[in-house]
Amino acid sequence: MSYCDLFLRACRKEATERVPVWYMRQAGRYDPDYRKIKEKYSLLEICEQPELAAEITLMPVRKLGVDAAILYSDIMNPVASIGIDFDIVKNVGPVIHNPIRSRADVEKLKPIDVEGDLPHVLETIRILDRELTIPLITFAGAPFTIASYLIEGRPSKSYILTKSLMYGEPDVWQALMDKLADMVVAYVKAQLANGSKAVQLFDSWVGALSPRDFSTYVLPTIERIFQELSGLPQPKIYFPGVASGELLPLLHNVRADVIGLDWRVSVQEGRRRLGGTFAVQGNLDPYVLTAPMDVVKAQAAAIIDEGLHEPGYIFNLGHGLFPEASLDKLRELTEFVREYSEKRIAERVSGEQRM
Ligand code: CP3
Repeated sequence: MSYCDLFLRACRKEATERVPVWYMRQAGRYDPDYRKIKEKYSLLEICEQPELAAEITLMPVRKLGVDAAILYSDIMNPVASIGIDFDIVKNVGPVIHNPIRSRADVEKLKPIDVEGDLPHVLETIRILDRELTIPLITFAGAPFTIASYLIEGRPSKSYILTKSLMYGEPDVWQALMDKLADMVVAYVKAQLANGSKAVQLFDSWVGALSPRDFSTYVLPTIERIFQELSGLPQPKIYFPGVASGELLPLLHNVRADVIGLDWRVSVQEGRRRLGGTFAVQGNLDPYVLTAPMDVVKAQAAAIIDEGLHEPGYIFNLGHGLFPEASLDKLRELTEFVREYSEKRIAERVSGEQRM
C-alpha cells in the first residue's frame, strides 16, 4: 500500500483531495478489544511493551480508517524520568505521590534522559514507522497542563494549588515551566528523530487561565518550546485544550503549524482570531457522538464546510473521545468525513474550472 500523506499536506496548508481525519484519544476505552487488554495490563505496563503499544496504536487505524495514528502513551509518561513518582489510577487519572509544592521540590527535578529511561517509547515509534502507511503523530503534555497534575497531585477542577503557586511564587513557577519546557523539547526531539511524522503539544487545561495570565505565566514558555523545535521539518500542532477560544488571539508568535480548536469557538471564528497563518484542527464536540447519526453528520458537515473555506484544515473532535463513544458511529463518521469532503472539494474544483 502506498503512503498516504494527506494529513501532513493539510498541516502545511497544501491542497488536498479530501479532508484528513483522526481523533484525539482514538486508542482507548470505547474499543472492547482495548478494554480486554486493559484487564491484563495497566497503561504504563503497556507502554513498556513496544510490540503491544504499537498494536494498540494500530487498532483504531484499522477499525476506523483514520488518516493519522497517534502513539499509544500518556502525557505523564516522561515525568518519571525527571523524578516524579506517579500512577494512572482507573477512573481518576494521574495521581502523583511526591507533588511539587515548593522551590526545593522544583530544584530536585532532574533533566530528562529519554534514551536511558524511555527506550521503550522510542522503540514503539520505530516499529510504527516501519508498519504504518499513514503518518504517526507523537505528543507531549504542555508545561501548564503537566504542572497542574504535578502540583495538585491529581486531576483538579479549580487548579487552586496550581494558581496559588503561580501567583504567590512566580519565580518558582517560572523555574518549573523552564524545567518542563526542557523536558518537552528533549522528548519531542527524540520522538522526531526516531520516526514520528508530526507532534502535538497537549495543553488540555490551560483554558482555565484568563488571557492576561496565560500571556504572563505560560505563553513565553510555549513560544520558546516551538522556537526550539522550529528547525525540524515535521509539522507541529499546539492544542490549547478546552475553553481556549479567548486565548487564540495571543498565539501569533507561536511557531506551530497547526492549532487545535475546541468546540466553543467555530472554525471560522477560530481562524479569524488566529490571524490566518495556521492550519486548524477540530472541532466537533465529542459528546455530539451521543446524538442520532443524522445529527452527527449534519454537525460534521457544517464544520467541514467552514474548514474548507481556507487551505489547512484537519477534521477532529474538540477534545478527546470518551469511554462510552460508539465504535460503529465513529466508523460511520470517519467514512462520512471522507466522502462528504471529497465531494465538496470536487464541486469546488469543477466550479472554478467553469469560471
Ligand atoms: O489519543 C490517543 O489515543 C493516544 C493515547 C493518549 C492517552 N492519553 C492514553 C490514555 C493520549 C494522547 C493521552 C493524552 C493525555 N493524558 C491528556 C491530553 C489529552 C486530553 O484528553 O486532554 C491528558 C490530560 C492526560 C492525562 C490522563 N491520562 C487523564 C486525564 C486520564 C483519564 C483518566 C480516566 O481513567 O478517565 C489518563 C488515562 C489514560 N490515558 C487513558 C488512556 C487510553 C484511560 C485509562 C486507561 O486506559 O488506562
